[in-house]
Amino acid sequence: MPVWVQMSSAGVQVLTWFPSHSRFNWSSLVPLQLRGRTLGLQAEDSEFRLEGMPFRIFGGSMHYFRVPKEYWRDRMVKMKTCGLNTLTTYVPWNLHEAANGKFDFSGNLDLEAFLTLAAEVGLWVILRPGPYICSEWDLGGLPSWLLQDPEMQLRTTYKGFTEAVDAYFDHLMTRVVPLQYKKGGPIIAVQVENEYGSYAKDPQYLTYIKMALLDRGIVELLMTSDNRDGLSSGYVEGVNMSSNQERGITRASSDQNKPKMVMEYWTGWFDSWGGPHNIFDADEVLKTGASINLYMFHGGTNFGFMNGALDSDEYKPDVTSYDYDAVLTEAGDYTSKFFKLRQLFTKIIGGDKPQSPFSEYLSKCWFSEFPVNMENLPVNDGNGQAYGYTLYETVISGGGQLHSRDHVRDRAQVKSTEQLLQLRLLVENCGRVNYGLMLNEQRKGLIGDVFLNKTPLRNFKIYSLEMKPGFMESLRGVTAWSTIPDYAVGPAFFRGNLQVQYLPRDTFLKLEGWEKGVVFVNGENLGRYWKIGPQETLYLPATWLHPGNNEIIVFEERMAGRIIQSVDMPYLGRTHYLD
Ligand code: GLA
Repeated sequence: MPVWVQMSSAGVQVLTWFPSHSRFNWSSLVPLQLRGRTLGLQAEDSEFRLEGMPFRIFGGSMHYFRVPKEYWRDRMVKMKTCGLNTLTTYVPWNLHEAANGKFDFSGNLDLEAFLTLAAEVGLWVILRPGPYICSEWDLGGLPSWLLQDPEMQLRTTYKGFTEAVDAYFDHLMTRVVPLQYKKGGPIIAVQVENEYGSYAKDPQYLTYIKMALLDRGIVELLMTSDNRDGLSSGYVEGVNMSSNQERGITRASSDQNKPKMVMEYWTGWFDSWGGPHNIFDADEVLKTGASINLYMFHGGTNFGFMNGALDSDEYKPDVTSYDYDAVLTEAGDYTSKFFKLRQLFTKIIGGDKPQSPFSEYLSKCWFSEFPVNMENLPVNDGNGQAYGYTLYETVISGGGQLHSRDHVRDRAQVKSTEQLLQLRLLVENCGRVNYGLMLNEQRKGLIGDVFLNKTPLRNFKIYSLEMKPGFMESLRGVTAWSTIPDYAVGPAFFRGNLQVQYLPRDTFLKLEGWEKGVVFVNGENLGRYWKIGPQETLYLPATWLHPGNNEIIVFEERMAGRIIQSVDMPYLGRTHYLD
């Protein structure tokens, strides 16, 4: 169960339960807010570490210059929803400096806006600034004006080329540097050139580009990316190598003790005019323990005249569409690959070792095509979930009318996130009937289909939130609670302390200002509260208290109050004499 952690200045502390779609995204992002940003992404051992924590890169490529700016957020949210934690983009020099010395970083070329948005959506970034990017892009992203020089030696230390690179990097890197991880931004790694091993015309060149990055203030992990044959000649001292293109996994580095990464795990392929539309089945993707970058997650379009061409035996220009048979279509729609990958990521993450101290506190989730009621969830040694809440999460393609057909037992809090892409139903079991003829019909959670615009919802991620002692105990171990915002919205866990000076006495907790939830004191579940009344206080027996600090944890579904009072009289509501 993903948990979002914050902490209070007012003495009350809050742990917001944030039922996000993927545990790894959360776990990879949150510890960093807490620890400061000094180490960044490291490739010292057999696995990557981000700020010291084991970190597996689940990356996806999407190029801002191939997607209308207005759609950036939509595609990024879909990327995150699929389970990825890192976005990878090239930077096209030929668009940013279409005329020698005239730079453009505006509109659809607003790289800073793109990177900032990625951070906002919760994605890390691996930046591939070239200067050469390949990518089926005209001249591999190099501006055509470079070819005015009859002596030009592209991708070498030929002065005419390096001077142009320097001038371009001066403009580009001032924009990139502040958005690096260690400066508080999303960029965790920067790629040096692109597949230089397969070109390798100048042994000095890669070092030149590496220094050009370092000299301008790039401080994050540097990587190269090459196909298997080019790995050794594309290597540059002091840079982590990652392999390219292999659908089977190859090692990210010649050093066996370094992390494995496939920088371009091709999800499909591009097309040339006159040829077929290439497609690729995603079934085999990700059966490896390596870090990976899906090339492409979303291909987009070679708008205008920007397509590149191949010329091995025959000249073959690429088509306008860069659909790539990628995870999202050219128009940003889901494909079957999206759902397969999402399921695959769920499995991988479910079985993964914890990626941060916090993930230990999170229960896992299950993937099911159909809704599963609480009692049939695979928890509690096959006994199912008995009480509490269950979260059902699914991806939808748009808004509309949601109809429960009376299959919600008993209450559901419905939330849709980010342009209605993800629908979350937090279903509370409010208590099973204890008398009458309905005892056989007491299953809880979603007991059947729920319909959106008359179509049954499918492909759920299901989280069980039973709040049993083990789970509550694990919350106690969380050290990183943070400030309650003025306006604290649930569902969330909130934590506070009740100071008892002498021997404890029975008392009643009054939750004025809170809406609906459950209270735990020193791990004991005091029961539900609900502002609709009549009951306004919860009984807290003295036996569950001790002198000194007593921990109160509140699970509030909707809106947190500011205080919890300990009062000596119960208030069970406005009285009404029975006839
Ligand atoms: C290489 C390049 C990419 C792209 C792919 C094919 O691996 O690095 O830029 O051209 O091939 O789509």
